[in-house]
Amino acid sequence: MRTICILSLIAPLALPQTKDISGTWLAKRQTGHGEMELVHELKVNDGKITGTQKMPFGDSPIVDGKIEGDQFEFTVEMGSLGNLQKRVVTGKIVGDELHFVPAMPGPPPGAGAGGQGRPGGQGRPGGPGGGMFSNEPVVARRGAPTPSYRAPSVDYKSLPKVELPALKELPYNGLAKTPPMGWNSWNKFRTRIDDKTVRGIADAMVASGMKDAGYQYINIDDGWEWKRDEKGALQPNPNFPDMKALADYVHSKGLKLGIYSSPGPRTCGGYEGSYGHEEIDARTWAAWGIDYLKYDWCSASRIWKDDDMPAVYQRMGEALRKTGRPIVFSLCQYGRAKVQEWGPKVGGNLWRTTGDIRDQWESMARIGFSQNDLSPHARPGHWNDPDMLEIGNGRMSPVEYRTHFSLWAILAAPLIAGNDLRSMTPDAKEILTNKEVIAVNQDKLGKAGYRLAQNGETEVWARPLDKGDYAVALFNRGAADADVTVKWADLKLNGKPKARDLWTHADLGRLADGFTAKAPSHGVVMIRVSR
Ligand code: GLA
Repeated sequence: MRTICILSLIAPLALPQTKDISGTWLAKRQTGHGEMELVHELKVNDGKITGTQKMPFGDSPIVDGKIEGDQFEFTVEMGSLGNLQKRVVTGKIVGDELHFVPAMPGPPPGAGAGGQGRPGGQGRPGGPGGGMFSNEPVVARRGAPTPSYRAPSVDYKSLPKVELPALKELPYNGLAKTPPMGWNSWNKFRTRIDDKTVRGIADAMVASGMKDAGYQYINIDDGWEWKRDEKGALQPNPNFPDMKALADYVHSKGLKLGIYSSPGPRTCGGYEGSYGHEEIDARTWAAWGIDYLKYDWCSASRIWKDDDMPAVYQRMGEALRKTGRPIVFSLCQYGRAKVQEWGPKVGGNLWRTTGDIRDQWESMARIGFSQNDLSPHARPGHWNDPDMLEIGNGRMSPVEYRTHFSLWAILAAPLIAGNDLRSMTPDAKEILTNKEVIAVNQDKLGKAGYRLAQNGETEVWARPLDKGDYAVALFNRGAADADVTVKWADLKLNGKPKARDLWTHADLGRLADGFTAKAPSHGVVMIRVSR
């Protein structure tokens, strides 16, 4: 009792002891990019902190810092050309760790359609990294970052300015008459992708029956890049010893090879981008035999404004045309700046309409069911892209994956599988190779579907098909099974059209008035209706 009393008298008088936090601190964060390392190199002198914050997009100076007891605070100058943003970071020393406090609440990671949750770039002010992160506290420990093939950081303030072309309309390149079908490495492998895996996926694409079902493109996403040679040509990193040989291999299977870059100096994963090297990169890819380019805004946000997007994308659109090789051009800028209006003009065959999808019902449903207003913009050669498929990645049920696939088919969305094709469950394979649903997606009329009716948590979507047919999907977004009804009158269909169930592969006969089915929670019943 006595001891406690004495201690409580002494404690408030004791001055907090300031610790030295000089050195390199490493925090690992889960972002839309998988694990990302955030590095702080700090120097403490007389209670003042200076140093550097390092992120994939570049280094930022740390200024005006101070430390008192176990509390610290500093300012990170996030330099963009003509756009200097300052972020105040505060935190606390807890044992051997630095606990950063996020300064401002923000949207959850990957939130919302319409480009809200895109990673990187000019995020909101906040804790370390600002918009890179969700609003969770960041914990850093002493340590050095893992070596990788990421490019060194960029000094955005002294980058030579790239000339943007005057806007014009590029003629259609004749590709992607139906939504592209294929596979992409990102959703499953993030930046841990290599030649051997890509070859294995190409083999599995054939062996699994996916090629027969119509899948064609094998697309390498971020993480293949390394550095430029003395002539400025971008080299793949040692995980891809010979891109031309890889393209030859993929072509020998009757498939096509796609690649990824950014109009900024760095990709979203922090690898070398195509800024100022658009023509030489397009020529390099054409020489390798590349058939598809996904071009991802990323660090371009540190250089240009959203209004510049058409000219920035046209610059690469023109560079691709100059190569003379047919290359599908996939725009990835998260649906910003009304891309659906100018995407086709700059040579785009498809354009992302949202932030990144996650393998999770809420993410998939939020994206998929928010695409209604965009459907008039889809047409042969030019498609809305609500992001790649998560089917088979394991965090949704087969019922939910069937909803995912049905919705993407109705939307005339690209069908780019994002799972490991070498080890598919029977369910994933059955969903991805459902030829009747794929026929809806690939219908040659090329009109995207739309929401026909909504009743609480059930939704009816319809897509007009060739020869006057309709695809109709009866969705149930609710937590309990529900009856969902489509009325032929809503489709202006008279008489008794024929209906066929595209998941049970059963003819339902000729039906008067309409069709009602019980859809499971988060599930779908999908039919094809013919006069
Ligand atoms: C962005 C894109 C993703 C993926 C990653 C790669 O987040 O939206 O689809 O390409 O970059 O870093």
